[in-house]
Amino acid sequence: KLADSYDDPVRIAVIGGTGIAALHSFTQVASLKVDTPWGTPSSPISILHHPSPTSGKPIPIAFISRHGLHHEFAPHEVPNRANIAALRKIGVRTIIAFSAVGSLQEEIRPRDFVVPDQILDRSKGVRPLTFFEGGLVGHVGFGDPFDEGLAEVVRACGHSLEGEGVRLHDKGTVVCMEGPQFSTRAESNLYRSWGGSVINMSALPEAKLAREAEIAYQMICMSTDYDCWHDSEDVNVAMVMANMKANAENAKNFVGAVLDELSKEEHGELVVAKHLDGGSKFCISTA
Ligand code: ADE
Repeated sequence: KLADSYDDPVRIAVIGGTGIAALHSFTQVASLKVDTPWGTPSSPISILHHPSPTSGKPIPIAFISRHGLHHEFAPHEVPNRANIAALRKIGVRTIIAFSAVGSLQEEIRPRDFVVPDQILDRSKGVRPLTFFEGGLVGHVGFGDPFDEGLAEVVRACGHSLEGEGVRLHDKGTVVCMEGPQFSTRAESNLYRSWGGSVINMSALPEAKLAREAEIAYQMICMSTDYDCWHDSEDVNVAMVMANMKANAENAKNFVGAVLDELSKEEHGELVVAKHLDGGSKFCISTA
């Protein structure tokens, strides 16, 4: 029987997106039901043991499924605040977030991975988007929405798998649209003209909430389609799922390599996000 508690702080978390509802290749040691003032997360938090490649010591990894264990939460229904608050509550300071994306550029082919460095917000303000409200006022910096230190680790891991068929783009701007409907062709072309690289429905407010919670956050995007601007067939869910499935082995190897690397002692300071300590401290004023 799985434990329903875990005593040590867990520093590293993976948020699985569409097509990644679990990480089967790791040993699960606990399943946590964590409550927060912002409600219940989209799935129980799995605690997995990952052996550190340097010391062999088991490193705990938290895993949460963004859309629920059975994909029951549409992008605009994901309880993002509960997810981020629950992870922070168990000690998480580093998040690797996966997302299926549409490609807005010819050179980003279906099944390519992208490590984005920027976001364009096309969500519609209908999702609860901050921890700072109701008398708690705060404005965190978001000029670089992702964590560059984490991004460097992720890029190196992706490139190390190129021989095994992982294709990786080192930078990119992810357009986060509201959904759940896909874009019109006019919108898709507009986002291309704005310099968008890929498009999804999940980068926000997740990345913003992680920043407010002083958690280092990097998204790994996996392209599943050319949205609707391209000559090829317009995006549909079957296409997204088929490409996710076809590339599942690469995704699994990629996350495995990233967790291997982050579990090394040399990244100890990075994964506890010392550089983000106090980032929200001076934002807060209570009325
Ligand atoms: N997720 C995967 N493909 C997408 C697309 N074309 N638009 C928005 N989100 C997506």
